[in-house]
Amino acid sequence: MAQSMSLLLVLCLFAFVPLCFSANLYPQFYDHSCPKAQEIVKSVVAEAVAKETRMAASLLRLSFHDCFVQGCDASLFLDSSGTIVSEKRSVPNANSARGFEVIDAIKSALEKECPNTVSCADILAIAARDSTVLAGGPSWEVPLGRRDSTGASLSGSNNNIPAPNNTFQTILTKFKRQGLDLVDLVALSGSHTIGDSRCTSFRQRLYNQSGNGQPDFSLDQSYAAQLRSRCPRSGGDQNLFFLDYVSPTKFDNYYYKNILASKGLLNSDEVLFTKNEASRALVQKYAENNEAFIQQFAKSMLKMTSITPLTGSRGQIRKNCRKVNS
Ligand code: HEM
Repeated sequence: MAQSMSLLLVLCLFAFVPLCFSANLYPQFYDHSCPKAQEIVKSVVAEAVAKETRMAASLLRLSFHDCFVQGCDASLFLDSSGTIVSEKRSVPNANSARGFEVIDAIKSALEKECPNTVSCADILAIAARDSTVLAGGPSWEVPLGRRDSTGASLSGSNNNIPAPNNTFQTILTKFKRQGLDLVDLVALSGSHTIGDSRCTSFRQRLYNQSGNGQPDFSLDQSYAAQLRSRCPRSGGDQNLFFLDYVSPTKFDNYYYKNILASKGLLNSDEVLFTKNEASRALVQKYAENNEAFIQQFAKSMLKMTSITPLTGSRGQIRKNCRKVNS
């Protein structure tokens, strides 16, 4: 173990920068300090998903919205207070990000079992993996040892998380800034095989895609008509729609198959097929080959959930994920 860690460090220093992502994280991190940590996270997540299937999607999304803002440090979980302006208020998160109560329940179970030990950031990394598994997706070993931030960044949340009406190039640039590439972008977007979107997130496509009062013609027009019936020109902003209308709670490759059929819900889904050759080829590949998708998804999640963690003595282990320790 120690040997492989130092090899990793050497590789990281001299050549393979992406390997640095997880140099300080390892799956056995809590083996002695909190051996039941993973089991506890899994059981609370399983209970929450049994109560509401969508929760798997919501927890998975939280890992994206946390990791894209100053790294995977649970900054997303902090409520506003004192000098902290919560990321929960940002455009991508407001009236949208959910699942915080499940994180609270996991944290309080862990504080009982082993106080001051398991970070909120690690809880989220494990919960995202467990959610994926519960929805029928792949599993992977989660490297651990992340610590929690003492601050949040509202502007980071607004600027770093791609918006559904961003261009392909803008979305790719936002991924690249996090050390993720085009393959990661296409594979991780496959998360939209589960979960819901509000009408407000794709309305533009139905009525006025490019400012000329016309819908987006890259969207299947009978599917668009169906969507318009519950997503009117005005009102109904919060109405919910399946991101993958074929198998909305199952983690499979229908997301990609839908895109091929011009039935990707968000503009950011469709542009993966219509605006770039390399990404188009990957959408096609994952639509044809579920195994290829599943394998790449696990790899890309490992990368995303290892973005610039706080380790060692940086940051802290919050007692309550919503607050910095006093
Ligand atoms: C590529 C850029 C992405 C864009 C523009 C984007 C945008 C969105 C939008 C607009 C919604 C619907 C939110 C709402 O209306 O309330 C959504 C939902 C969702 N996103 Fe993404 N997303 C992207 C990438 C990702 C990634 C990388 C993941 C996870 C690794 C992810 C996971 C999810 C999940 C699971 C949901 C459903 C959440 C729920 O039902 O609570 N997305 N996304």
